[in-house]
Amino acid sequence: MWKKILLILGSLVLAVVVLGGAGIAWLFLRKPAMAPAASIKVAMTPERIARGKYIFESVADCAGCHSQRDFSRVGGPEVESGRGRGNVMSDLLKGLPGQVVAPNLTPDPDTGIGTWTDGEKIRAIREGVDKDGRALFPMMPYASYRRFSDDDVQAVVAFLDSLPPVHNPLPQTKLIFPVSVLIKSAPQPAGSVAPVDHTDRKKFGEYLVAVGGCGGCHTPVDEKNNPLPGKVLAGGRVFDTPMGKVVSANITSDTDTGIGKWSEEFFQKKFYDFKEYATSGPPPSPGPQSFTLMPWLGFANKEPEELSAIYAYLRTVPSVHNPVETHPGFPKGPALP
Ligand code: HEC
Ligand code: HEC
Repeated sequence: MWKKILLILGSLVLAVVVLGGAGIAWLFLRKPAMAPAASIKVAMTPERIARGKYIFESVADCAGCHSQRDFSRVGGPEVESGRGRGNVMSDLLKGLPGQVVAPNLTPDPDTGIGTWTDGEKIRAIREGVDKDGRALFPMMPYASYRRFSDDDVQAVVAFLDSLPPVHNPLPQTKLIFPVSVLIKSAPQPAGSVAPVDHTDRKKFGEYLVAVGGCGGCHTPVDEKNNPLPGKVLAGGRVFDTPMGKVVSANITSDTDTGIGKWSEEFFQKKFYDFKEYATSGPPPSPGPQSFTLMPWLGFANKEPEELSAIYAYLRTVPSVHNPVETHPGFPKGPALP
């Protein structure tokens, strides 16, 4: 009798060990969902390159992570000679799960993506896998960029292809376990994407907020990086950097703690107040009290129709009461120092 029970128990334990081991092996060996890269060479017309530059700097803020920046100046402007050269993000931002590197996107064949096909670049931007099929850490906002229309993503790639190669060797992204295996479920094929209807202001605004990464900074997250329910765009994400600490603002329509009192004109003015700095270069930063990661300089060049659409969409987002101090420890001052 006992022998029989022990035998059954023994085989159960064995089954659990084998199955569990297989499960763990599967997690490690699993490949992310991935479609073959399109065989496409994007047309390099001047209009398309200009559109790509506009998206890189003023719509999606690719520059914010992938370009060298001068944080000794207000707004941390892009350094032109280091445009697209990449950054070790985990040196700039505390709390990332390991070593996170925004790679060199210039056509340098050794340290950039000069050997990638345009189809592989498009796939990385919209679908989140690199040339070799490795899942990218979703700090790269591909979950939002999958919304990019075929025209827009091709414009960005035309712009990347037009960049002067910058030789800038960077380390590889190295994530801690279990993040390293969990992210494999993030990439998804995007297929072909039609452009959004620009005449529908709210729909166009929703698109611009998605590809603009507003949620990535303005929606607070839990310790597993999942957006907090009921707090969409309500602010409170803390960015702790060597340059200072800044907390994202509440941009819902709450009248006390959000931007509910702002007229559309005032909303536009907030961005265009930075236009002079964006055009002629900002002054030296007075210190951490004015440090920000809000891409004011890039976004100051946005078309008025885009800001208008963003404003219209933000008005449709549920308003959330969430008081935020954007510069903890400093008196609330004007946005512009
Ligand atoms: C919030 C920061 C951030 C923004 C904004 C961002 N990226 Fe990234 N990007 C990253 C990080 C981090 C990685 C690398 C992730 C990894 O290695 O797992 C990456 C990876 C990539 C890759 C793959 C390159 C390679 O060598 O593996 C491409 C291509 C890319 N980004 C293009 C873009 C473009 C184009 C934009 C704007 C439309 C953009 N990124 C915006 C952070 C960002
Ligand atoms: C890289 C992070 C980041 C991204 C991306 C980002 N923001 Fe911000 N934003 C911030 C931070 C941090 C602040 C607070 C500090 C400041 O005002 O500069 C802020 C402030 C603001 C403010 C000022 C609110 C106030 O009460 O003064 C507005 C408006 C705003 N963001 C709108 C947007 C919109 C719209 C988008 C997307 C199109 C966006 N932001 C994308 C980080 C970001």
